Amino acid sequence: MNDTFLRACRGEAVDYTPVWLMRQAGRYLPEYQSVRSHVDFLTLCKNPKLAAEVTLQPVDILGVDAAILFSDILIPVEAMGMRLEFSEKDGPVLSEPIRNRGAVEKLVIPDVEDDLPFVFETIRILRKELQQRVPLIGFAGAPFTLATYMIEGGTSRTFVNTKRMMFQNTAVFHYLMEKVTDMLVPYLIGQIRAGAQAVQIFDSWAGILAPADYKKFALPSVRRVIHEVKKEKVPVIYFVNDCAGILKEVKNAGADVVSVDWRIDIADAIKKLGKKVTIQGNLDPCALFLPREKLEEKVKEILWKGEAAKSHIFNLGHGVLPQTPVEQVIALVDTVHTFGKRG
Ligand code: CP3
Repeated sequence: MNDTFLRACRGEAVDYTPVWLMRQAGRYLPEYQSVRSHVDFLTLCKNPKLAAEVTLQPVDILGVDAAILFSDILIPVEAMGMRLEFSEKDGPVLSEPIRNRGAVEKLVIPDVEDDLPFVFETIRILRKELQQRVPLIGFAGAPFTLATYMIEGGTSRTFVNTKRMMFQNTAVFHYLMEKVTDMLVPYLIGQIRAGAQAVQIFDSWAGILAPADYKKFALPSVRRVIHEVKKEKVPVIYFVNDCAGILKEVKNAGADVVSVDWRIDIADAIKKLGKKVTIQGNLDPCALFLPREKLEEKVKEILWKGEAAKSHIFNLGHGVLPQTPVEQVIALVDTVHTFGKRG
């Protein structure tokens, strides 16, 4: 198996900088669109054969160094008893948002094996299919990011309901975070036991918090998840979107790999994170709209700066956008493989 990605996660010597991309399976791929034209998104996530098929598409088409389970961070939230829909226009919608203690009390901690069997089945299928190829990454949302969706009922611009609960109903907020964390630990451990060889925790919205609030309201729960999951002895990657202002705190979450967005220079991120973690990132997804030579320059700069880290895994700073031309994504992966060779 090509274990370059896993070696980089652990900070071991590699022949070249490995690369995979957040949202590498998705709407920019005609092959994905073709599967999606027959089924809606949630049905696709819950059908192990189809979910495995779309997981493998970018491995075949792009030649990335890792596969990531096809699912969504909100799938286990549905299993906690919330009604989930995906609308073409607004993205995820949770129809009865959590606004008080009674609503948190009603949330159930799912028995992950019984209530989310399709996730583990997809992983088992993938491990068989991927045997001699690349490692499989499992994932979940971080407690804070999941809590924002549960409280707002969807994506938000100001996160006023989340912050109001944090500041006015602090005990209820902590109670919600505790329940989400209690769900996440067995969910991620279950993925690892089913065959996931690394896990990534997505904190897409932690960057909306002031550093002191991140430390108080978001960090303790994600640190508990990471601490428990690390006992399974597979690498844990922590992605924090808009991380620049909170990177000092993010370092304390305890992940093996920290994945950073593009708003921070990767050289600065490496300085702040130190030599104990592997860094992942951090090309702006919109750089894929640049002419080929300009894209290549940006990739080379990140690769060069990445050499200062304990180890570097190339990725985007956030997911591939649906409008992205596939040829550009293929060119990006080739460029990383060509210029990321270690002598
Ligand atoms: O290839 C992969 O990265 C694996 C699959 C994956 C998806 N979502 C598929 C998806 C992963 C790892 C996620 C994580 C996820 N989901 C996050 C964290 C990463 C991030 O983007 O910040 C978040 C916040 C979500 C919630 C979510 N799911 C939103 C806000 C949306 C709608 C907006 C959008 O970006 O599309 C989704 C839908 C979604 N998740 C799609 C895919 C392929 C598009 C659904 C479709 O086919 O119509």
